[in-house]
Amino acid sequence: MFKHIDFYPGDPILGLVETYNQDPRAEKVNLGIGIYFDKNGNLPVLDSVRHAEEERAATARPRPYLPMEGLAEYRLAVQKLLFGNNCSALSENRIATIQTLGGSGALKIGADFLHRWFTTARAYVSNPTWDNHKSIFEGAGFEVGTYPYYDPVSGNVLFEEMLAFFESLPENSVLILHPCCHNPTGVDLSSNQWDKVLEVIQNRKLIPFMDIAYQGFGENLEDDAYAIRKAVVMGLPLFVSNSFSKNLSLYGERVGGLSVVCPSEEEAKLVFGQLKLGVRRVYSSPPAHGGYITARVMNDGELFSLWEKEVYAMRDRIRLMRRKLYEVLSAKIPEKDFSYFITQRGMFSYTGLNPAQVQRLQDEFAVYLVASGRMCVAGLNDNNIDYVANAFAIVLK
Ligand code: LMR
Repeated sequence: MFKHIDFYPGDPILGLVETYNQDPRAEKVNLGIGIYFDKNGNLPVLDSVRHAEEERAATARPRPYLPMEGLAEYRLAVQKLLFGNNCSALSENRIATIQTLGGSGALKIGADFLHRWFTTARAYVSNPTWDNHKSIFEGAGFEVGTYPYYDPVSGNVLFEEMLAFFESLPENSVLILHPCCHNPTGVDLSSNQWDKVLEVIQNRKLIPFMDIAYQGFGENLEDDAYAIRKAVVMGLPLFVSNSFSKNLSLYGERVGGLSVVCPSEEEAKLVFGQLKLGVRRVYSSPPAHGGYITARVMNDGELFSLWEKEVYAMRDRIRLMRRKLYEVLSAKIPEKDFSYFITQRGMFSYTGLNPAQVQRLQDEFAVYLVASGRMCVAGLNDNNIDYVANAFAIVLK
């Protein structure tokens, strides 16, 4: 009965976690999946989250379904974080926001919506991008193309090529963009470059879909939202998927959001209704616990300040690891320029290692990276960095 079914070779990122977990070697290092580990290699529980959870656990409460769109206070928190406090689109009720099952859930509901209402549109992802962007948009029925982004030779963005490509696209083409901490390369656009990209998007009437999963890990919470806020100021229609998995260390709670910035309040109401329908069809309503915790941390002044410090401490530790890796590798192989480890931003670094070298790291050293050469810098710590750098140096020689 099921013999005709295609074999699933596994997900390039989640499959690697399965292999890593089964690896019995004590020295193993997980630099595959985008998860922040602390200086001892543990998944942190943030103090801000712990306080909010203790408060909530103090009283046993009934567990009704949340509304299809999620908690009102959560949705408000998402809006404030993404768009800032003085956003005119917010005061004009032009932004439809729903709570979603992580960033992936937001991408799925957004992709379903777009495919339903812009039937002939194509979607474009950066080359390269997070693998699941393509999967989710294809799963929603889109034909997915790529736009030029990363230049493996220079390690920079192929900016002119990217702009020219956007110029060539028909109206309503959907562009999946990374406002900060590009996954997988760690190579971001400058604010000047964003200004130019947004101008082309406006002139060509393209649909920007910004996926922000690392807000706070690049520069800071405000600057990392530059492209989003600029697009709103320019009056562009805009989709934003966001995730609290990393910056609240709440991976398994599935806390994300989808916001659609519309030209008018009337349109925002129509969009909001369709997003609710989209949720109802797929999973009915989002889970409650992570939503309450997130909303509490974001909306309480003291918890928010505490959280901000915790996000910046994670960011700074990642930066420190970048610098250390750069220093150790530069000392070992002085003829090679490793400065890209420092200039790339966020959790990921595109190491330039090829699939054979990545495989060697895994086989000989139990050091796990995604086959593309993407490394999660947040998996490094003082105990494993010399070991990893040494392994890198051996496979690079
Ligand atoms: C990653 O890119 O490693 C993370 O976003 C986790 C995931 O779901 O792939």
